[in-house]
Amino acid sequence: MAAPTPSPPLGWLGLEGRGALVMGAGGLGTACVRGLAEAGVRVMVVDADEARLKALRDDPVCATAVVRTLSMDLTSSEACERAVATAADEFGGLDVLVHAVGTNDRRPVVDTPDEVWDRILTLNLSTAFWTGRAAGRLMRESGHGSMVFFSSVSSLLAHRHHGPYAASKGGLDQLVKVMAREWASDGVTVNAVAPGYTETELTRAYLAKPGMREEMTALVPAGRLGQPQDVVGAVLFLASARASYITGQVLYVDGGRTLV
Ligand SMILES: NC(=O)c1ccc[n+]([C@@H]2O[C@H](COP(=O)([O-])OP(=O)(O)OC[C@H]3O[C@@H](n4cnc5c(N)ncnc54)[C@H](O)[C@@H]3O)[C@@H](O)[C@H]2O)c1
Repeated sequence: MAAPTPSPPLGWLGLEGRGALVMGAGGLGTACVRGLAEAGVRVMVVDADEARLKALRDDPVCATAVVRTLSMDLTSSEACERAVATAADEFGGLDVLVHAVGTNDRRPVVDTPDEVWDRILTLNLSTAFWTGRAAGRLMRESGHGSMVFFSSVSSLLAHRHHGPYAASKGGLDQLVKVMAREWASDGVTVNAVAPGYTETELTRAYLAKPGMREEMTALVPAGRLGQPQDVVGAVLFLASARASYITGQVLYVDGGRTLV
């Protein structure tokens, strides 16, 4: 059997010393923070859950890097603007934004109250708008920057019981494209990574239902569910200068889920 091809060194990405803001210390946000830290990026991570932030502070990878944490409820434009300003102050500017907060509540459209619609749209879509707008102002001024937002296969596929979630992710894809177009001439790239079913807190209870893990896995040509680490390469690449001519794209990281 041929020897496995070695991974290129992370220095290939040219991310060392950059300053990044990661919104969300959940399963995917945490994997991104660790990946960015390994690539030499200075990271500020924001989340409303102090326990998740503490887990990152205690993480051995983060302990040897510059990783700052900020505990904050992000569901207002003021909070999102404050998060961007705090990271920019800390790092002397902002090079990278990763938006990885989100929530879901699976129920039929006819059983979805306004409160659920508002909560999902606010966290999944409005925070992306508020943060993207604030980061866009800074990045345009400095003439460079890259943003990566977490979309989902639900932005493309009509999953049952995903009304507000799918609407938020479909809206996010279009927001990404418009921001990308408006800021392309300023050296700012804006892209989305769209995972398939990935094992985090967001999907834990659903996957624990009888038969659900098998049913979900059967839909994935790669024959397995995603793990948080699966998104990291895509995020690091899109955040790097190696991807400086890629903007307005939605990159599916789904083991082929959207092919079937
Ligand atoms: N896990 C998946 O299968 C999957 C698939 C496709 C897309 N996504 C998307 O990826 C992103 C990250 O998902 P995840 O799987 O890491 O979810 P997760 O539930 O593990 O993490 C979400 C994080 O958001 C934080 N958060 C929630 N409300 C907040 C608020 N008001 N203010 C600040 N922080 C808040 C939570 O504390 C949590 O740390 C989301 O946008 C999600 O929709 C996930």
